[in-house]
Amino acid sequence: MSKIYHPQKKMFKEPLIKNMCEYTELVEKFEEDYEGTWACFADEKIDWFKPYDKILDESDAPFYKWFDGGELNVAHQCIDRHLETKKNKAAIIFEGDNGDQRILTYRELYYEVNKTANMFKNKFGVKKGDRVVIYMPMIPEAAVAMLACARIGAIHSIVFGGFSADALRDRIIDAEAKLVVTADGAYRKGKPYMLKPVVDKALEEGCECVEKVCIVERNGEDIEWVAGRDYSFEELVKNESSKCDAEPVDSEHPLFLLYTSGSTGKPKGVQHSSAGYILWAQMTMEWTFDIKDNDTFWCTADIGWITGHTYIIYGPLAAGATTVMFEGVPTFPDAGRCWKMVEEYRINQFYTAPTAIRLLHKTGADEPAKYDLSSLRILGTVGEPIDPEAWSWYYNEVGSGQCSIVDTWWQTETGGHMITPLPAATPIKPACATFPLPGIKAEVIEADGTPTEAGEKGYLCITKPWPSMIRTIWGDKERFKKSYFGDCKKDGKPVYFSGDGAMKDEEGYITITGRTDDVINVSGHRMGTAEVEAAVKNHDHVAEVAVVGKPHDIKGEGIFAYVVLKSVPVEEKDVVADEMELIKEINGVIKNEIGAIALCDDIAFVPGLPKTRSGKIMRRILRSLAKGEEVKQDTSTLEDPSIVGKIKEILDA
Ligand code: WT7
Repeated sequence: MSKIYHPQKKMFKEPLIKNMCEYTELVEKFEEDYEGTWACFADEKIDWFKPYDKILDESDAPFYKWFDGGELNVAHQCIDRHLETKKNKAAIIFEGDNGDQRILTYRELYYEVNKTANMFKNKFGVKKGDRVVIYMPMIPEAAVAMLACARIGAIHSIVFGGFSADALRDRIIDAEAKLVVTADGAYRKGKPYMLKPVVDKALEEGCECVEKVCIVERNGEDIEWVAGRDYSFEELVKNESSKCDAEPVDSEHPLFLLYTSGSTGKPKGVQHSSAGYILWAQMTMEWTFDIKDNDTFWCTADIGWITGHTYIIYGPLAAGATTVMFEGVPTFPDAGRCWKMVEEYRINQFYTAPTAIRLLHKTGADEPAKYDLSSLRILGTVGEPIDPEAWSWYYNEVGSGQCSIVDTWWQTETGGHMITPLPAATPIKPACATFPLPGIKAEVIEADGTPTEAGEKGYLCITKPWPSMIRTIWGDKERFKKSYFGDCKKDGKPVYFSGDGAMKDEEGYITITGRTDDVINVSGHRMGTAEVEAAVKNHDHVAEVAVVGKPHDIKGEGIFAYVVLKSVPVEEKDVVADEMELIKEINGVIKNEIGAIALCDDIAFVPGLPKTRSGKIMRRILRSLAKGEEVKQDTSTLEDPSIVGKIKEILDA
């Protein structure tokens, strides 16, 4: 039995959900009238331009529609409607890598977004429904570009700045983007780094859809300007009018695409809606983070991931909060950077990934004690399981044993939190995501819908559609159905399967046990093994490859690749570089095709892979071998059972 931590009531003034009775009441309200309860929230929270006709349309399941017929504008929801009461409130507090600061009030953000929206329309011909790829560092212009798209009904697709030119190109082509918004580069650990050259390289082939590139000058380093294609953001935006009407869009109009990895094939463009997404972004800001008017909220994610979308930009701004945007890294100039910022900005909610917590614990365990962290009320984690050791340091040293820790489970596809403690209500068990939020029917079941016994692993499914769910995979409806609604059923009807396993205990607490598919979670980022394998195969000497995850002290999971080399005739032996050289080259290929985030931590050269007679690679065996565990799986069904021993010998050596 793990110890239970009760929320410290003195930390909370009028939280929206005060205790477990209120939680249960809300859950029951949804049980009694699912659609009606969602409608109450939608009516209360969203500033509708036109009321909706239907709450939930299930006629074309699993392509669910929420609040159909309604019209709104997400930029209006995030900015305009706050002008009456908060025009001079800080909307975004930006801190640069080297400590430079910029504060945008709601009024200033309003004008910046309007001007940028006008520039997108007038200078780049961006129209409602057009796709805009944003490949940017963590600077306020990135937020402005997102909201400018929302304002005119353009669909943004942010590509994380760590992705390579090839990865960027794939995403541009898949989305058929018309405009790319980027920066010359930015700063990291006190030094400039570049982004624009990556865009140039990406656009070298196959990106005819891209008409213009809009460049923010952040670090002032030299870049190439392609005449007629490349334009300076600053130069153009300053002449635009700061008035731009917010374009009314349908509830289901796509707000953005965000590419994420699956177990097979290329990354998929997860498509989110306008109304359902923004409703849940705002509600979870209020429920999970207990956001109050005077709070300063800091989520350390990058805007290139869903956490950055929902909890740096859309959630906080929809809730009218002050959100912190940080360009740098937590360990520069030292491991006290985050705590220094918490002290300086008097941060009330701090939200980060277990990887960052482990890193800060390892490199600066005593740092929190050097700062005044008394403003903190809620500490959040997201992206991967947190281990009890990191949890306990976070709770005791960062939170002084006073803050509530919210271990939030959710996904790119869910848009916002699904399973998480409520900070003022839920008694927490360390490293446990606890209970589904009201309105979210998250269940641990077998593939046929039977609930699993307490303490047994099962599939983590969400068995009712919810407003902020993924709508489809851009351009691939079949893949959408197959990826999420193909594996699990309840009462004979396909239900959303997350790809994660989970376990419910006697008291209903849900613990996430990790992916059940071939997806690895590196530092809280999803990496498809198939994608990494496809990259490695592009090295000339590689015949076969299998990639698995291996536990990693800081990153949660590291990437382990088993590589079978092509046989080389003896006379050509010396053209094949030695193993160290090959490892470098293979990682070089990965860096080019995906980006540094997918580099392998280990590469082992093996004579063959454990395959069944039908040719399926038994990754479970490879996972055990990578961990140095005894192989418990039955190897008799393998085409060549002796391969397991051979691989083991190589790894031992
Ligand atoms: C996958 C989703 C959601 C934003 C960041 C990642 C894992 C997420 C937790 C948690 C254990 C977690 C799951 C999930 N995950 N949160 N609190 N505890 N695992 O978004 O890239 O879409 O990845 O991250 O495996 O499926 P993502």
